Amino acid sequence: MAFVTHYFTRALSSSSIRNAVIKHVTIIGGGLMGSGIAQVAASTGHSVVLVDTSQDILNKSTKSITGSLQRVVKKKFADKPEAGEEFVQKVMKNISTSTDAASVVQSTDLVLEAIVENLKVKQDLFSSLDKIAPEHTIFASNTSSIPISKIAVSTARLDRFGGLHFFNPVPMMKLVEVIQAPGTSQETFNTLLDFSKALGKHPVSCKDSPGFIVNRLLVPYLMEAVRLYERGHGSKEDIDVAMKLGAGYPMGPFELLDYVGLDTSKFIIDGWYEMDPENPLFSQSPLLNKLVSEGKLGKKTGEGFYKYK
Ligand SMILES: NC(=O)c1ccc[n+]([C@@H]2O[C@H](COP(=O)([O-])OP(=O)(O)OC[C@H]3O[C@@H](n4cnc5c(N)ncnc54)[C@H](O)[C@@H]3O)[C@@H](O)[C@H]2O)c1
Repeated sequence: MAFVTHYFTRALSSSSIRNAVIKHVTIIGGGLMGSGIAQVAASTGHSVVLVDTSQDILNKSTKSITGSLQRVVKKKFADKPEAGEEFVQKVMKNISTSTDAASVVQSTDLVLEAIVENLKVKQDLFSSLDKIAPEHTIFASNTSSIPISKIAVSTARLDRFGGLHFFNPVPMMKLVEVIQAPGTSQETFNTLLDFSKALGKHPVSCKDSPGFIVNRLLVPYLMEAVRLYERGHGSKEDIDVAMKLGAGYPMGPFELLDYVGLDTSKFIIDGWYEMDPENPLFSQSPLLNKLVSEGKLGKKTGEGFYKYK
């Protein structure tokens, strides 16, 4: 596969070192998040390669990106459908797919990982890519809950490793949490901030602490909603309505859990429980465990707390 290779641009004077400019992005994981990030990166003129384990999955990713772009275009180019179609084609031209991460990362500025929320699997991936990716390539994880430093230790590029935590649905959600692990260099951190802005997002700086900002507040709330339901304090429908009409939240906790994915939510709470089993905010839920074991993972599988057609 032929790629245009883009290397860092640096200022000549050391007193005004410019941050690296990310042009070519490799996104590993073409699921919910990876597809969304690919869409946004390609829409903002970046050259994107989306990597997953099979071509079948990648075909689904491409289909979902096209569908999402077409929804954007319907609104944005309501009066000019031809210009809209041109835009979709232009964006899709910026995206290619591959099942072979090793061959792709040889010419990339940023490897952004959005695979399963499992430390060992993420470490194995980064450890293998570290041996192949060029010196200048920055590695970043979109993990929701795993400390970036724990993933980064699998590589020899701690200074060029940070966190980029996007929110679902990526094309709609403005926030990106940019995580500076203890080893992340200031230049890498600044580059990731700049990259987030180049995607049209609003970055916030976060320390490498569990859940960063949003999930550290959100996940204990979601789990307490499940416990409330388990204790029979209310039906899931009533709890959802209560939080929407009483707290002004756009989605109820069960709707949000189904949207995020119950497996992803379980990974998060399991990891935090393991880290601090005495903390009641991190206690596990038998109901969540049961649904995940039955493959009811939320919207993406057609059933979670609710059923979807
Ligand atoms: N779902 C959310 O709302 C959300 C929000 C922010 C961050 N995240 C994080 O983003 C990551 C991905 O979450 P998701 O919801 O997109 O999951 P997902 O299950 O929709 O997608 C994961 C994809 O990764 C692929 N994959 C797994 N192992 C791989 C490997 N070794 N190489 C290449 N591809 C591989 C899978 O085939 C799948 O397509 C997780 O770390 C999650 O915590 C999720």
